[in-house]
Amino acid sequence: MSAAAARAVLEVSDAVVEFDTDGGRITAVDGVSLQLSTGETLGLVGESGCGKSTLARAILQLVPMQQGSVRLEDTDLGSLSPRELRRMRHRIQMVFQDPRGSLDPRMSVTALIGEPLRVHGIGDRASRAREVAEAMELVGLPALVADRLPSELSGGQQQRVGIARAIVTDPAVLVCDEPVSALDVSIQAQIINVLDELRDTLNLAMLFIAHDLSVVRHLSDRVAVMYLGQFVETGTASEVFTEPRHPYTQGLITSVPRADTESAARLQTARRLVLGELPSLLDPPSGCRYRTRCPYATDRCADVEPPPDLLDGHHAVRCHHHRAITAGEHQPSSKSMRG
Ligand SMILES: Nc1ncnc2c1ncn2[C@@H]1O[C@H](COP(=O)(O)OP(=O)(O)OP(=O)(O)O)[C@@H](O)[C@H]1O
Ligand SMILES: [Mg+2]
Repeated sequence: MSAAAARAVLEVSDAVVEFDTDGGRITAVDGVSLQLSTGETLGLVGESGCGKSTLARAILQLVPMQQGSVRLEDTDLGSLSPRELRRMRHRIQMVFQDPRGSLDPRMSVTALIGEPLRVHGIGDRASRAREVAEAMELVGLPALVADRLPSELSGGQQQRVGIARAIVTDPAVLVCDEPVSALDVSIQAQIINVLDELRDTLNLAMLFIAHDLSVVRHLSDRVAVMYLGQFVETGTASEVFTEPRHPYTQGLITSVPRADTESAARLQTARRLVLGELPSLLDPPSGCRYRTRCPYATDRCADVEPPPDLLDGHHAVRCHHHRAITAGEHQPSSKSMRG
């Protein structure tokens, strides 16, 4: 896809989401910015609790942001009244992790898929029926399941219904929050292929959240790696997967079977981090948030928060030492070599 053909349909600037919890206030999303163009998939990865779903929900205006903005096409979503926002909703849709839990058990497949059209007052009865049939075909649901209830469908079919509901309103942006994590491994690839094809057929801009790095690699044009509410590394899929710069990304990638053998030793060092404890958001580390698990951390990492360092193209890394590490001029500290 040429840069000229790409148009940012979604632009998130400096998003901050805070929650009040029993233990105090936490910042679940801490100054995240991203852009997404038509026909493009951005993969979002990071450990449990790092803020992926919160970011997705903030983009859809399902949780309030304390700071920042979300622009969809030419509209600043934060500036809309509840009624105006409801009118925009059909342009940005979400696919959830648990298809069954997100489907009303009493509704048939066609009623479920037609529901967003009815809610948004799109079309008349006849045109809605056509749209539903078309959506079923696009997601690979056979006509014979039209009258079935969710409980009469397989897990894969349930998720196809979830996807059909999301695309039936003709969205510009599709946010997929771990859409295959709840499915049997044998079904996952099928559902990923459905989403990948839809992205092309419908020219969707897609934000794809996953734990499984191999899924993200397969599907994404660009990748963002999230840690404790922040993007620590962003870039094209090949930049992030074949030349990971942030020690955290390196650690994540070595925990995937297809590790880069050339820099295996360096990655092996980084891998230790994955075994460490995730700090609490109630008391995040000073400076670089990753430093408490990072084998390369120095005093500077505790004192100064690293800003994103932009390499060639879109590759950006939030680490004070990544250039020296890559050049072999900065070794892991002896402390982190213990164990
Ligand atoms: N409504 C809420 N109220 C209070 N805290 C919340 C709320 N929603 C999320 N959190 C907290 O915000 C942080 C980020 O959670 P989030 O669900 O976004 O993480 P995640 O990256 O999606 O994790 P997972 O991979 O497990 O889905 C966590 O500490 C979580 O406990
Ligand atoms: Mg989540």
